Amino acid sequence: MDRNAELTNAFLRLGFGFVEIGTVTPRRQIDNLRPFRLEADEGVINRLGFNNEGAPAALARLAARARGGGVTGITGVNIGANRDSTDRAEDYVRLIETFAPVAGYFTVNVSSPNTPGLRDLQQANALDDLLARIVDARERVRARSGPTPVLLKIAPDLTLSELDDVVGIARKRGIDGIIVGNTTVTRPASLREREKAKEQGGLSGRPLFKLATRMLAETFVRAEGAFPLIGVGGIDSGPAAIAKIKAGATLLQLYTGLVFRGIGLLSEIKSDLVAALKRGHRSSLASMVGVDAAEMTAESWPS
Ligand SMILES: Cc1cc2nc3c(=O)[nH]c(=O)nc-3n(C[C@H](O)[C@H](O)[C@H](O)COP(=O)(O)O)c2cc1C
Repeated sequence: MDRNAELTNAFLRLGFGFVEIGTVTPRRQIDNLRPFRLEADEGVINRLGFNNEGAPAALARLAARARGGGVTGITGVNIGANRDSTDRAEDYVRLIETFAPVAGYFTVNVSSPNTPGLRDLQQANALDDLLARIVDARERVRARSGPTPVLLKIAPDLTLSELDDVVGIARKRGIDGIIVGNTTVTRPASLREREKAKEQGGLSGRPLFKLATRMLAETFVRAEGAFPLIGVGGIDSGPAAIAKIKAGATLLQLYTGLVFRGIGLLSEIKSDLVAALKRGHRSSLASMVGVDAAEMTAESWPS
């Protein structure tokens, strides 16, 4: 939600363990399509195509923040290609070179449904080429900026055979993690706001939870511990956060839950996580990561 890196410190001060800015594109890109709520479903549909001021503006803010000291914390930079780019892979490479000095990690966003053709970068050949160039850029900037992990953010709408390819390629290329995932273009049968749901765009929030959590579990069993996963999609309570961890998430992100629940959701989730640790006599959440994944992949597909 912070495409232009204006709120980084504010979010860290609220108590998040890390924040992610973006999606940032090399050049400024503006559109005026506003997201809208499916109130009864606690979901949001958005058609925003990387509405952002462009890399120089976000970089200037992150650089000023780095110089200013004060609030510290991990800040990821989520990168994407301009809609009218003639070489999309080159956009990602340039953004890694640009942001390496200020990025805690990179998210390679190839899964927004709102930039026509972007999701095609998840297809095996295109993804293999893209990740080869990206990993090359990650290694080039290492000498100057130190190691910067690169994570791939995928769509929850991949087929399982596409997911086989994506995870296989990510492992082969040495990607540092996968984020599962972005918004869905599907519309679950359970939606109550049927008319609004007919609108085009990416659906997020509670109606996305089951699909995104299932895809997370599917990714976990394929990754076999090669890298950590970030679970995102429909987290709006402590139990939802715990379910994501058990499906395979080492880290969590949320957006739409804040729209409906407000910022109090953050402390609610954190107290529920602490309570879950105490109940299970555990000293760390790490031992819960992925414990339900295999079982979840045997369930019937969420509809
Ligand atoms: C209004 C809106 C704008 C979004 N913009 C981006 C974006 O620029 N880049 C991105 O990777 N994901 C974007 N997302 C997707 C979210 O980061 C997240 O993956 C998705 O909404 C699922 O999580 P949630 O159910 O907690 O919202 C956007 C979501 C919403 C609702």
